[in-house]
Amino acid sequence: MKYAFFDTKPYDKPSFEKYGAEHGIEFKFFETKLNRDTASLAKGCDGVCIFVNDVIDSETIDRLYDIGVRAVALRCAGYNNVDVKHAFGKLHIFHVPAYSPYAVAEHAIAMLLTSVRRIHKAYIRTKDFNFSLNGLTGFDMHGKTVGVIGTGRIGRVFADICKGFGMKVLAYDKFPSEDENINYVSLDELFEKSDIISLHCPLTDETKHLINGAAIDRMKKGVIVINTSRGALIDTEALLAGIKSRKVGAACLDVYEEESDIFFNDFSGHIMDDDTLARLISMPNVLVTSHQAFLTEEALNNIAETTVSNIVEFAEKGFCENELCYRCGKTESCKNSRRKCF
Ligand code: NAI
Repeated sequence: MKYAFFDTKPYDKPSFEKYGAEHGIEFKFFETKLNRDTASLAKGCDGVCIFVNDVIDSETIDRLYDIGVRAVALRCAGYNNVDVKHAFGKLHIFHVPAYSPYAVAEHAIAMLLTSVRRIHKAYIRTKDFNFSLNGLTGFDMHGKTVGVIGTGRIGRVFADICKGFGMKVLAYDKFPSEDENINYVSLDELFEKSDIISLHCPLTDETKHLINGAAIDRMKKGVIVINTSRGALIDTEALLAGIKSRKVGAACLDVYEEESDIFFNDFSGHIMDDDTLARLISMPNVLVTSHQAFLTEEALNNIAETTVSNIVEFAEKGFCENELCYRCGKTESCKNSRRKCF
């Protein structure tokens, strides 16, 4: 079996080579991203293996189908970059629904603590033997109210860690769980009462720009916004305006609306063309990491293991437990019948 592996980074190879070799899968590694122009590189392959910023739009799907590709193995959880509806009847799409919710939740906490206690500033100061504390005053997490939007795998781990700090947790989810330990409130109430707001819901048409000017208007002055989910959950211009007006006290961003041509690449020594990102990064109260939240050894191993097992399961049975389709979404009809989408 041969899979074309797009957007390869050095840290991807060891785990995929190991698990691939164990199951007779040859990965053909390409550094380029998959899109309509690069789809032809997958000629001769059974499938493609892609990440968050590869673009699988209708044209890419048609081109892949025409050259005989029949499967797309996402090595990530989110699939907003795939036209799943157009793929129906052509390409089977599988993803890795969970690989380490701890990796992402812990990164969100790391960013929050860094921001609140000014660790990013202190690190640079002491490196320069500057031991002044001026401007480094933080606040206690204990007793603060955190609003968690999306109480799935990652949101719950994040909420549990916050409870450990002695914080009050408010939650909003379009599909609330029955867990009585989660204090669900309306989105407006969450905006109004939270000192810190963390996003853990998927990007959909409905959640695009969930954090916009109107939402920021409702928030407390000095609110900290954390986004480790998907960039377009936040209207970046509105966030920037909120930061400039001092309404938003800090932002911790692991994802960015326009990240696809920027993140995961080294632009040091170049002029940054994206003025919005450059302005954000220039703010003392904004922390940006480049879609790094998933990057732990445990997560990389789990991603490779599950991706390979998806590929093997599909090859052996013709269906895959982690298959996606626009009809069944994640759980319903198709999977109930023959556990396959078409
Ligand atoms: P999950 O599927 O377990 O949980 C998502 C939750 O969001 C569910 O409870 C769902 O009901 C809720 N939800 C769906 N629509 C909603 C809406 N309109 N409003 C509010 N809540 C809504 O997903 P998981 O594993 O917790 O991942 C969350 C997100 O984290 C993913 O969608 C992905 O975008 C992002 N992610 C980011 C990574 C990174 O490296 N920065 C790595 C992995 C995931």
